[in-house]
Amino acid sequence: MLYQYTDMPLPKRDWLERMVFHGIVFNMSWEDPEMDRIALRPGANDTIISITSAGCNPLNFLCQTPKKLISVDSNPAQTAVLELKLAAIATLDYETFFDIFAARRPNIVTSVYRARLRPMISQRSREYWDRNLWMAARGLYQFGKNGLFFLIMRRFLKFLGIDLNQADDFFEIDNLEEQYAWYRKHVAPKLWGKSAKLFVYFKPFMFLAGVHPHQFDLVHERHDMFEYVKERIEYVMTRVPIYDNYFMSVAVTGKFRGKRVPPYLLEENFQTLRDNLHRVHVVNGWLGPFLDSQPAGSIDKFNLLDIFDWMWTRTQLYESTWHSIMRAASERATFIYRSGSYQLEPPTNVRDQLKPHPELARKLLARDRSATYGSFYIYTRAAAAPELNAHLRDAVPATV
Ligand SMILES: C[S@@+](CC[C@H](N)C(=O)[O-])C[C@H]1O[C@@H](n2cnc3c(N)ncnc32)[C@H](O)[C@@H]1O
Repeated sequence: MLYQYTDMPLPKRDWLERMVFHGIVFNMSWEDPEMDRIALRPGANDTIISITSAGCNPLNFLCQTPKKLISVDSNPAQTAVLELKLAAIATLDYETFFDIFAARRPNIVTSVYRARLRPMISQRSREYWDRNLWMAARGLYQFGKNGLFFLIMRRFLKFLGIDLNQADDFFEIDNLEEQYAWYRKHVAPKLWGKSAKLFVYFKPFMFLAGVHPHQFDLVHERHDMFEYVKERIEYVMTRVPIYDNYFMSVAVTGKFRGKRVPPYLLEENFQTLRDNLHRVHVVNGWLGPFLDSQPAGSIDKFNLLDIFDWMWTRTQLYESTWHSIMRAASERATFIYRSGSYQLEPPTNVRDQLKPHPELARKLLARDRSATYGSFYIYTRAAAAPELNAHLRDAVPATV
């Protein structure tokens, strides 16, 4: 195989999680890679581990040529998305790769799958794509649970009288003042009424969006889900430049705009990705047990997405996962994660081993284009060398 592949036994999950998180949930990684790049500063000596989700952010890290990239996910369908992308990088030209994964002419995947892509991927992912290639052929961003969520959301916005045909004008705005005025005039007056409340409080809809049941409870109990969603959306629509916000473009229009795409889809990165495929280790499995199988102190950078929102009520799992992380982490390790809640500290069993970098985290969150997370965390080891912490202090962007 082009890359290392490990298939770990997947422990049984409760019925709700099995139902909600079966098949592709995330057709795109919903974390802003610019935040990850500045916070983790992937380098040539680094072994990075990342949760896979739709594989976008692991591939964005691979553009930085780390020593090794480990991408792990407990949902085999998510792993299958990453494997199809890796196989395409290895065997297709850039234009065809872009046609499929930027969904410019996705149907071309049917003509290359059997001969070029299928031989490159694991048996488990072959079984997945043999049944589900139609989703990639019709454009991944229309499918998967969060693809279905955005389809319903777009219908709902039309129902509220918001004219999505005007969206193209909005996404071409290149200054915050005009952006704020446009949002205030065309969206805000119609959006945040009673029916939006019903929409956001209807858990099955939010599960479709990829909000884990435990995550829904975390946010709703602490912040009221409607107020939280309103605050996050209004922030991004009025305070973060919309011009290159491919997250909002995919959500509101179902597509990317030209070359305003994640870094791994840019032509300038294609050859680098291809040259780095041997550095990739794809893992089907749970993070904790996988880390326990790795040598102690062998991993330098941890991209943990919002997995702790999925386990915060399950203290034993929460603490054991952090224990596994700290055992596998090198002396110079950096850890990043996000939360739907405005605050979710690491468990007490590891907190004194960690040094937070709140100012950099706050400034990066203020530029987050995903409109999803209430908080972002950057940690190094408390005992880390001073120059490592100095490096993070100097990474704080001057402006927000
Ligand atoms: C935490 S979720 C959230 C993703 C994010 N909000 C997004 O939109 O991309 C991302 C992925 O983590 C996986 N996941 C959650 N907990 C995990 C764990 N403990 N080990 C491995 N994968 C996990 C899920 O299967 C899912 O594909």
